[in-house]
Amino acid sequence: MGKTPTLDDFFGEKAREYEENKNLKKLQIETVHRALDLLEDNNPNINIEKLLDIGCGTGWSMEIMKERGYTDIQGVDISEDMLAFAREKEFEVQQADIRERLPFIDEEFRSIIAISVMNFVEEGCKSENEIEQRYKHVADEIFRILKPGGRAVLQHFKKPKNVEELMLTQFRHKFTGGVIIDDENLRKEKRFLVIDKPI
Ligand SMILES: C[S@@+](CC[C@H](N)C(=O)[O-])C[C@H]1O[C@@H](n2cnc3c(N)ncnc32)[C@H](O)[C@@H]1O
Repeated sequence: MGKTPTLDDFFGEKAREYEENKNLKKLQIETVHRALDLLEDNNPNINIEKLLDIGCGTGWSMEIMKERGYTDIQGVDISEDMLAFAREKEFEVQQADIRERLPFIDEEFRSIIAISVMNFVEEGCKSENEIEQRYKHVADEIFRILKPGGRAVLQHFKKPKNVEELMLTQFRHKFTGGVIIDDENLRKEKRFLVIDKPI
């Protein structure tokens, strides 16, 4: 039996398939628009603010940000193969794992989004305690690199109830906000954790 592939192996092998999947792209683009609407929240100055895309993949979300007028966008992803496509599109991206320390200084970003990434954070955890520690780290890192008054929108798919609760508890310790559920109980259900760092 071969070894279990790491997340990097998995997305590495799938990178071209992902980039060329037109149906998936259409769905992801709708999700990105929704996440950006939640991020902007009627703030007319948002487009000039520095934005980080965590788990940016091949750069689909960054294409939408550019279309919507964002000029200062950076992306990180665990998979160099996914990032290769984003680099071809000339986006500013670097390899980083959200489960580790992110390569940014404190309070660098006004806005952060992560589309379809938060379901991979608990990957490989063997106990609730490990899941809790993973999310504590992720919440701490997002808090650290976000400016006071900044907002993050983290889209994820439904998780087992206990895992969702472990995740939310860690974010609630530091941020205000909550979860917005679109198309609840349908196959296309999506969840958006919208969190604000207090000033
Ligand atoms: C379903 S894809 C979504 C990509 C992109 N956000 C989009 O909407 O097209 C999930 C992405 O998360 C990245 N990823 C998974 N685990 C990660 C981690 N621990 N740190 C950083 N990126 C991660 C994968 O490499 C992949 O590019």
